[in-house]
Amino acid sequence: MTERITDRVNGDRIAADIAALAERTRHDQPGFTRLAYSEEDRQARAWLRDRMEAAGLTVRLDAAANVIGRHPGASEGTVLAVGSHIDTVPNGGRFDGMAGVTAGLEIARVLSEAGRHLRHPLEVIAFTNEEPNAFGLSTVGSRAMAGKLTAPRARELRDPDGRTLAEAIDFLGGEAAHLDEARRSRGAIAHYLELHIEQGPVLDREQIPVGVVTGIAAPTRLRVRVDGRPDHAGTTPMGLRKDALAGAAEIVLALERIATEAGESVGTVGRLVNQPNHANVVPGHVEMTLEFRSIFPERIAALRARFLEAMPEIAQRRGLEASWEFLMEERPLQIPPKTVELAAAVCRGLGIPFRPLPSGASHDANHIAEIAPVSMLFVPSVGGRSHCPEELTHTADLAAGTRALLGVLVRLDETL
Ligand code: HGY
Ligand code: MN
Ligand code: MN
Repeated sequence: MTERITDRVNGDRIAADIAALAERTRHDQPGFTRLAYSEEDRQARAWLRDRMEAAGLTVRLDAAANVIGRHPGASEGTVLAVGSHIDTVPNGGRFDGMAGVTAGLEIARVLSEAGRHLRHPLEVIAFTNEEPNAFGLSTVGSRAMAGKLTAPRARELRDPDGRTLAEAIDFLGGEAAHLDEARRSRGAIAHYLELHIEQGPVLDREQIPVGVVTGIAAPTRLRVRVDGRPDHAGTTPMGLRKDALAGAAEIVLALERIATEAGESVGTVGRLVNQPNHANVVPGHVEMTLEFRSIFPERIAALRARFLEAMPEIAQRRGLEASWEFLMEERPLQIPPKTVELAAAVCRGLGIPFRPLPSGASHDANHIAEIAPVSMLFVPSVGGRSHCPEELTHTADLAAGTRALLGVLVRLDETL
């Protein structure tokens, strides 16, 4: 199969799919919000199933409610898979995850219109719930496909309203009681490819349309509780307070300092709940969800050790109690140089400017890498912005990224 098939990629169709998905979000708040397991998520998935069928794919949901569109290969056997996610963060953007799923749709259309079949069956996958959720987890669909999420665990995890993750998966049409059936054995997927927006500034700043990902960072995420003592804000002398929020603030700044000093790492406190959160009460209790990441495991280990020393020291000095539980400790991923080189050679052959770069964000590919070889391609995020309404990737870049993705897919199909 020549790589001319990549010339059939139509950026306007991709942009139309992005716009249709953007419509299927909440309209009562800024930005684009389609949280996993919401009514908006269910509607967008119904739309996606229709578009997959229109693109010539046979669609099914697996037990984890992953939406899987299949294009038959010239022969059966191990599949090639492209995918990403369509759930968003609150007040997020229109491209995070959607770029990869709509690229998969476009590839299916191109193959169907050309009457072409790859040697391998092709699966286009929209993974369930990639973003952090109220159950304290993320990347649920790819985690289940990699065999890292069990039915009992899904029944155990509850959101603040008491809904279990299992009920949420079933709400989307999955079968959480048989979550193990979503598991793919090693070898079932010959190679997984994901196109994603960079969510950082490099490609946009250098005006390069495609990034070939060399490594993918992964979060260590904790839920931290700081307990002090609620008191009257007017009558309690400063020297007698056990102010949980002041202690939490020092912990936030300690994470920022330690992550900065670690180098090539990041640390963030993205969620903080202050109680009783009232103007004239000294805060008695704070709950935070925080994380740190690097693509280098040794940096994560050093950062983890320093931070776990700093937290109790701050609490003890302030007469507070600090406790924490690890929500996840994901492993960062190095993409094998030969895999990076294959994608680079395809971009060269197609005349698409590219550069190698690491991913500071984590992705479904992190889990799928435990059961199959993976490749990731990036397209530019204007101004490096993501997880916000300003998130933007130009249609020409989406088309270039999709051409590169199809080119890598064809090359893998010929060589695997
Ligand atoms: O958090 C991340 O890295 C991704 O956006 N889920
Ligand atoms: Mn995201
Ligand atoms: Mn994403």
